[in-house]
Amino acid sequence: MILGGTSEARLLAEALAARDECDVLLSLAGRTEKPATQPVPVRIGGFGGAAALADFLKAGGYDLLIDATHPFAERISANAPFAAETAGIATIALRRPEWQRLPGDRWREVQSIAEAIEALGPSPRHVFLATGRQGAHHAEAAPQHHYLVRSVDPVEPPLVLDNVDYVLDRGPFTLDGECDLLRQHDIDAIVAKNSGGAATYAKIEAARLLGIEVMMVTRAPASTVKAVDTVEAALAAIDHLFPPAMKRGV
Ligand SMILES: NC(=O)c1ccc[n+]([C@@H]2O[C@H](COP(=O)([O-])OP(=O)(O)OC[C@H]3O[C@@H](n4cnc5c(N)ncnc54)[C@H](OP(=O)(O)O)[C@@H]3O)[C@@H](O)[C@H]2O)c1
Repeated sequence: MILGGTSEARLLAEALAARDECDVLLSLAGRTEKPATQPVPVRIGGFGGAAALADFLKAGGYDLLIDATHPFAERISANAPFAAETAGIATIALRRPEWQRLPGDRWREVQSIAEAIEALGPSPRHVFLATGRQGAHHAEAAPQHHYLVRSVDPVEPPLVLDNVDYVLDRGPFTLDGECDLLRQHDIDAIVAKNSGGAATYAKIEAARLLGIEVMMVTRAPASTVKAVDTVEAALAAIDHLFPPAMKRGV
């Protein structure tokens, strides 16, 4: 079973679905109203905690649990190794590498969205809040700024702020598109998570080109589970765990 919600999970599911010896189920949390189409059977919704996830794995006779969730999906990633151990099956984590600061980047690293909002300072700024709808409410702590909030689905309830614009969009984003967006809204600060990956990196490049400061929310320390950082490496790890002759269900 693949815990998903990322483009990597979809690509890994696609690669495994092409193998006759694998039965794959992709699990989504159900956060987005219209999730992307997936190449394998999908189940949607939380399990009810780590023990319930373990029960689900045992009942379904799964051999392997792959945590391919977003690097900031910390709860499910903490549950996954516990559940796999309880169910007595193997587990691997697929984590994109973090973005690294390059010359010209004006990053301030912070531990949370709340800290990022505080780091914007007391003077009014034009802020692009690019961290999705979960956590957008932290902006209410600093109502002096003008916010542009981007998310896949609408922020519900809307933020209690006088100065806020919303843009609904789903990656991948292009450098030209991000530069246009930042210029149109006269943005002088961006709040972003260090998600890694290509799909949402264009805003970071655009910020570099335009000299815009980025409040970069860093990741929590990684767990001790065996982690790989590409779909190809995940496939290799699966081959290592289950040499081709003995593959059954993932
Ligand atoms: N956090 C982000 O910035 C972000 C960005 C893009 C995509 N996503 C995707 O959105 C989903 C939710 O993210 P989150 O930050 O809310 O996660 P989270 O805080 O780690 O998870 C909260 C709860 O949601 C359920 N859950 C999360 N991922 C699930 C999955 N793939 N399948 C079934 N249940 C899942 C679990 O509920 P139970 O305990 O009841 O099992 C989990 O305890 C993840 O799958 C992630 O890949 C997150």
